[in-house]
Formats: sequence, structure tokens, C-alpha cells
Amino acid sequence: MKSKSIEDRIALNNGIEIPQFGLGVFLAKDGKEVYKAVAHALQAGYRLIDTAAIYKNEPSVGKAIRESNIAREDIFLTTKLWNSRQGDYKQVAKGFNDSLQRLGLEYVDLYLVHWAVKGKYEDSWKAMEELYLEGKIKSIGVSNFQVHHLESILEKSQIVPAVNQVELHPFLQQRQLLNFCNQHHILVEAWRPILKGEADKVAELVEIGKKYNKSGVQVTLRWNLQSGIITIPKSVNPDRITHNADLFDFELSHEDMDIISSLNQDKRFGPDPDNFDF
Ligand SMILES: NC(=O)c1ccc[n+]([C@@H]2O[C@H](COP(=O)([O-])OP(=O)(O)OC[C@H]3O[C@@H](n4cnc5c(N)ncnc54)[C@H](OP(=O)(O)O)[C@@H]3O)[C@@H](O)[C@H]2O)c1
Repeated sequence: MKSKSIEDRIALNNGIEIPQFGLGVFLAKDGKEVYKAVAHALQAGYRLIDTAAIYKNEPSVGKAIRESNIAREDIFLTTKLWNSRQGDYKQVAKGFNDSLQRLGLEYVDLYLVHWAVKGKYEDSWKAMEELYLEGKIKSIGVSNFQVHHLESILEKSQIVPAVNQVELHPFLQQRQLLNFCNQHHILVEAWRPILKGEADKVAELVEIGKKYNKSGVQVTLRWNLQSGIITIPKSVNPDRITHNADLFDFELSHEDMDIISSLNQDKRFGPDPDNFDF
């Protein structure tokens, strides 16, 4: 069975390994809320944590990691460069160093350009390459990049992004982007993977779940894992954090994988990466 354990890792294009399953912390409040969520997740076996400068919770995410009694090298931490810090090296380095300081950690495992800001994202990527070559970041990647954004940076730079983190769930399966990323050894990571919990209201997913004694949320996350995608459902609720990780004792059949594939509607719930204004 593929994806046997919560600690299963996949190699990025630079040889560094990333856990395939983790915790997202968008909208988790800095302080007790996010601290407890990260601490509980780490206790439950999660080893990948996904934050961002704009989530404004890096201080407590870092604190929970530092106080976890888990070796730093066993935890994979992602954070992201916010749009207001995009542009030349000076800007990007400031964004990165501020994040590192807020986290109170020596390094981050993955640093992502959060959105492809028009007129700036190519320079931001060049700056990310410089930071990476200086050894301050283990891996660099992007988020919300469409094929044309990726083509543009691949043409102008030397380092291929390790990851592209994008909105991806049964209603937005991103097949063209996935194919492109696969061809270029860019791992795809799914955000909003459980439709903000609404996966439990999708009849087809709930129906499939009954066969395995699993919820629609768990079916959706298992579909991510079996598709070779990294997935980072968010929760600050201990029971849901545990429930969302209970994915490693079943395998969806080919038929059920096909049913989920047929749910695609190319429907976004978040902003369109070609038309956002922030
Ligand atoms: N790169 C980007 O631009 C970008 C954009 C959005 C998100 N992300 C990342 O991706 C992560 C996940 O995306 P997301 O947070 O937007 O959405 P999501 O993970 O699909 O859904 C999170 C929501 O579902 C609820 N939930 C969690 N588990 C549940 C369960 N088992 N049953 C019912 N409800 C459940 C959570 O509430 P409770 O907390 O109360 O459990 C929360 O409201 C984010 O946290 C962030 O790290 C990245």
C-alpha cells in the first residue's frame, strides 16, 4: 500500500525529503490557538507544518516547534514570502530574515513565493535563488503559479522550484498544471484540500467513505496521497487534527479514485492567480 505512514516523505528535486501530509495554519490565531494546534499535531505524528508571513502566526508556530522535544531536523517547516516584500534581493532577504526571526529558528525547510505578483515575481525568484545558494533555506518553491508563470521563471533562472502550492481539491483538480509540474519535477502541494471541511457534505465522497468506514474529509485527503500530492489540511481542533491524519490504514480502489476524478468542475473557491489584487 502506498502512503503507509504519516511520516512518509517524498524527495524534492534537490534531494531533500518532504512529508507528504501536514498541518496548515491559515487563520489560526497567533498565541495559544496556533501553539496548541501545532503542539497537538506534532504529538499526533504530523511532521510538516505550513505557515506564511501573512498568517501572522509565525512566532507561536516557531515556539511550538522549539518546545516540542522533537529534533528540528525531523520537522519540515514551510513559510512564505508575502507580496509586499516581492521584488529585488534586498526586499526578499528582508522578508525572509524577518520570518526567520519571528519563528526563532535557524532555518526553514521550504520558502515559497506566495503569489506571482505581476512585474515582480521573476525578480523575486532570482532573489530566492540567491538566498538558497547562500544556504539559508533548505528548498525554495512557489505558490499559486500557473503554467505561464512557471514557464517564465524556468526560462530566466537556474533553479527549478521544488514545490508549487496551489488550490487543489476534487472540484479543482488542476490536471494541466499537474502534468506540467510532473514533467519539470516540481511537486504539487494542495491548499484548501478539504474544501474548508465541506468535503463531508459532498455526497459522492461520503458514499465512498462508507465503504472504508471513513469520512468525506478522509477520503479526499487519501485521494491526495494516492495521487502523489502533498496535502496540508488546517485545523485548530485537536479531535479534527487527529481525525484528519487517520488516513494510513486504508487504500482507495481504482474505481473510487476514478469517481473522485470525475468530480472535477475547474471550480475555484479562492482567488484566481491571474486576477488577484493584494
Ligand atoms: N498558498 C496559498 O495561497 C494558500 C491559500 C490558502 C491556504 N493555504 C494553506 O493550506 C492550508 C489548508 O487550506 P485551508 O485552511 O484554506 O482550508 P482546508 O484545510 O480545506 O479547511 C480548513 C477548514 O476546515 C475545518 N476543518 C478541518 N478539519 C475538519 C474536519 N475534519 N471536519 C470539518 N471541518 C474541518 C477547519 O476548522 P477548524 O480549524 O475549526 O477545525 C477550517 O475551517 C492552510 O491552512 C494554509 O496553510 C495556502
